[in-house]
Amino acid sequence: MAPSIPQSAPPSTPPSTPRSAPQRTHRLVTASPADTVRVLALAVAPIVAQGVIARRRRVVGLAGKLDTDGRGVRELQRLRARYGTGPIRLRVPLRPVALVLDPGDVRTVLTGTPGPYTPRNREKRGALGRFQPHGVLVSRDEQRPARRRAVEELLDGGHPVHRFGDAFTRVAREETTALLAAARGTGEFGWDEFVPAWWRIVRRIVLGDAARDDHTLTDDLTVLRHAANWSGLGRRHRRRSARLRAGLEHYAAAAEPGSLAALVAAYPDEAADPVGQIPHWLFAFDAGAAVTLRALALLVAHPGDTDLRAAALTAAVLESARLWPTTPLVLRDTTRRTTLGGGELRAHTAMLIPAWFHHRDDEVRADADRFDPQQWLDGTARADWTLMPFSAGPAACPGRELVLLVARTVLETLLTGADVSAGAGVPDSGAPLPRGLDPFALTFRVRPPE
Ligand code: HEM
Repeated sequence: MAPSIPQSAPPSTPPSTPRSAPQRTHRLVTASPADTVRVLALAVAPIVAQGVIARRRRVVGLAGKLDTDGRGVRELQRLRARYGTGPIRLRVPLRPVALVLDPGDVRTVLTGTPGPYTPRNREKRGALGRFQPHGVLVSRDEQRPARRRAVEELLDGGHPVHRFGDAFTRVAREETTALLAAARGTGEFGWDEFVPAWWRIVRRIVLGDAARDDHTLTDDLTVLRHAANWSGLGRRHRRRSARLRAGLEHYAAAAEPGSLAALVAAYPDEAADPVGQIPHWLFAFDAGAAVTLRALALLVAHPGDTDLRAAALTAAVLESARLWPTTPLVLRDTTRRTTLGGGELRAHTAMLIPAWFHHRDDEVRADADRFDPQQWLDGTARADWTLMPFSAGPAACPGRELVLLVARTVLETLLTGADVSAGAGVPDSGAPLPRGLDPFALTFRVRPPE
């Protein structure tokens, strides 16, 4: 199948007026040392502390209680009021860093991949290199085209339904039905019950039914991801890395029909290291668990709006990913000296696109803190470069459609298979939605369908 990956959010025009060109270049607007410290402490550090690669459960809970994501939004609004939309240089020692607040600049950076803005950012490399050294996202420029082509072709990126869609939805339904059956016994379920079911779905889809209960493999990955939270400073866990790779090779060799492993086994371009792409898929599916459970919270909190058609459920999942993005900071590095918004950027500048801020900026967005699935149905969100839950441009997420398919199937199975209602942690539909929503604390009540 010839994949036709879109640029994920492929707007022909950005939402806000692009900067008028041509502009004279000038030195980058630079935050004062005090403002740099405030931004790092109030906006960036709380995100890093929650775990960028593997969420730290306790810290996520604490961050929600302290509303650190809300404080971060307010801090960046204050910065913008003081310095304009930038890009704004932060005075970080030994590392040029620029914050991208202007919608037109977001578009320029995301479309300028792999150069002058490479997704292979230094910090990301340090972190992801721990468990997916050959993943496309951290691949060198000369390796990137083949690996990008491989992931697009294997994941059917850009196609609403993967070629194995029937098999994948069957697996998602089976495991979710089993989850519901157990939950009917206790009358409720939460993260601790949901996540094992989610991983069974993921292992079966990615590696095949034989991997359904292979917790060792995904537990190894989790350990490596926690080490990756420390970027280049984390422990290497060489034995676990080798065991993970051997496990993936084993499932690829088995090539169970109807799994992604079968496609990996048959992929003709070995230089793209198709097996080496799998750790990213497993890692990224983990984000899907939090996004799906939060989408369920949105749906049960807004029962009047619940529409179980595929498009509506997909929109709810996208809203969940907008309201609580699992990649809150999209990172790029400049590959060479360049200009953005008229400001001069040095080579190897880290570009910080604060996705969670753009998604929740209540000085710009009327729907910042409310459930607004309509925008994903009528195309407005797609035309908005400041909405980037799956990133955008040539390095946009090629697994977007696949994870949306799985998520909406899980939601549909839950909502048709039982009467699911709000338990602990589900936000009140009447109030503005919290800027942080702890997925580990969500619970849902379950009764047989009426
Ligand atoms: C809700 C779940 C997911 C979300 C929110 C998500 C979001 C994203 C984002 C924001 C990026 C860009 C990262 C960056 O630029 O640093 C990305 C890249 C990527 N995602 Fe996803 N993703 C999800 C699930 C998946 C799944 C399930 C797969 C594979 C099965 C996948 C495969 C990839 C790959 C391979 C890339 C790298 C693309 C490249 O470098 O060209 N993602 N994703």
